[in-house]
Amino acid sequence: MMKLYFSPASPFARKARISAIELGLAERMELIEVTLSPVQPHHGLRSHNPLGKIPALVTEADEALYDSPVICEYLDALAGGDRLWPAAGAARWRALRRQALADGLAEAAILMRYELVIRPEGLRWSEWLDGQRLKVRTALDALEAEPLDGPFDIGAISIVCALEYFEFRFPEERWREGRAQLAAWHERLSRRPSVASTRPA
Ligand code: BEZ
Repeated sequence: MMKLYFSPASPFARKARISAIELGLAERMELIEVTLSPVQPHHGLRSHNPLGKIPALVTEADEALYDSPVICEYLDALAGGDRLWPAAGAARWRALRRQALADGLAEAAILMRYELVIRPEGLRWSEWLDGQRLKVRTALDALEAEPLDGPFDIGAISIVCALEYFEFRFPEERWREGRAQLAAWHERLSRRPSVASTRPA
């Protein structure tokens, strides 16, 4: 049995959970929920990932893997390969670029969250927060400008996880406004069982 260290809200851990479901591997994956933050590390997790970050996967061969792109590619290979990770050509580079864009969006949103929730009020720096918000908004605008239809691959999985994390923590940002194409694309994918069953409550 594989073990996935995760937190329900983490968009990066969710990529691994959605991938496992899509690939028919969920039954082989035990989910171990951890609570952590940059200032409250989880010491058990460090024995698997020295960076102390989720997601971390312990394989059936008892090897630790991290971070989310490595785990998701490993799961794809375990399921035979070329399923969620196009093996070669333009489709591969498009999926990997979309993953990088979505992961960057999610990372900026998480940094916004940490700034607002973890950093003591007196140490907050509004320009830094604005810089992260700008990254999120320009990434959303780039996604709106790009026709996203195509297979549900690692690029699409990453985008769904990033969008829903931003929605989950920053509903007041109303990312759908002025982004009708992206909103319609998301609406279609949001009903997919792997997406609906992993949504943070
Ligand atoms: C959150 O609660 O917002 C969160 C949890 C895990 C990783 C990143 C963010």
